[in-house]
Order: sequence, then structure tokens, then C-alpha cells
Amino acid sequence: MEFVLISQNEEETQKLAFLLGKTLFKGATIALNGSLGAGKTQFAKGIAKSLDVKEEISSPTFNILKCYFSGSMPFYHIDAYRLEDGNNIDIGLEEVINGDGITVVEWPNFIASLLENVLKIDIEILDDNTRKLTFSSNDKEYEKVLSSFKEEL
Ligand SMILES: Nc1ncnc2c1ncn2[C@@H]1O[C@H](COP(=O)(O)OP(=O)(O)OP(=O)(O)O)[C@@H](O)[C@H]1O
Ligand SMILES: [Mg+2]
Repeated sequence: MEFVLISQNEEETQKLAFLLGKTLFKGATIALNGSLGAGKTQFAKGIAKSLDVKEEISSPTFNILKCYFSGSMPFYHIDAYRLEDGNNIDIGLEEVINGDGITVVEWPNFIASLLENVLKIDIEILDDNTRKLTFSSNDKEYEKVLSSFKEEL
């Protein structure tokens, strides 16, 4: 399944992520593709909100992995940007991916070997405030998620 939504501003992107977050199951992993400033972290914020994460979500570029345990289930935010150069540091990312909570990955291509079972979202910048979001999956469980999500829109 693949479908496209247009977001007109940052709040709308967060709201879409919030609605998607409400349909996710424990162990789900979201792979967020998109260039610098596309809105990946904004999307991650909306998912965190749907899980009732209390902390402010910041871009984890300098941490690669940030873990939040204040919500209804663990929320793991990975930003693989710094692994671009193939620096395969072993910090146990495979422990959290498809694990006991929800994982959101920015720059998933840099850890592609760890991401076999994901819901993929491509964010494309159309202009200053407009983003094209393409949701796709070819896995049964994520197809169900996307169907429920569509019904909420
Ligand atoms: N429709 C929109 N959806 C999301 N962000 C938007 C939108 N319109 C404008 N923006 C702006 O684009 C920027 C997106 O920043 P964000 O940190 O989420 O990008 P990112 O994809 O995580 O980038 P990076 O690769 O550097 O981590 C924010 O400044 C936000 O206000
Ligand atoms: Mg970011």
C-alpha cells in the first residue's frame, strides 16, 4: 500500500503523526526519509505526543539514539545522520528496533541493514511550508496500521 498526503504547515505534520501514532503497535518502527529540514523531527514529535511522552523531543543528531520512557510505551528516536560515513558504532540499536516500544528513525538508509520491517514515510519539500508525505509498506501489520490511519483522516 502506498498513499500520499500533503501537509501545509508544521502543525499539520505533527497532527498527522499524532493520528498515525495512535494506530501503532508495540514493536513498530517508522523509517522517515527526507532531506535536511524536511520535517522528520516534527513528525517524530507528533508520534511522541500520541504516546503521551512528557519530555520535549529534540533532534538527536549528536546522540544517534534517544530513549523516552515517560509515555504509554517506550519511545526510541534514532537519527542515523552521523553514521553516514559507515561508522558502524555498536550502540545496540538492534535492541530497540522492533523491540518493546515504538522506534522512529531519521536517515534510515544509513542503518538499512537493521531495518527490515518498517513503515516507510518519505517527506518531500514542495515549498517553504508545504510537504508531500508518502506512506508505504508491504508488510501485513503495517498495512493494517495504514488502513486505520486513513480512516482517522
Ligand atoms: N509542513 C511542514 N511540516 C513540517 N515542517 C515544516 C513544514 N513547513 C515548514 N516546516 C519547517 O521545516 C523544518 C523541519 O525541521 P525538522 O527538524 O523537523 O527537519 P528534519 O527533517 O528533522 O531535518 P534534519 O535532517 O536536519 O534532522 C522546521 O523548521 C519546520 O518549522
Ligand atoms: Mg531531524
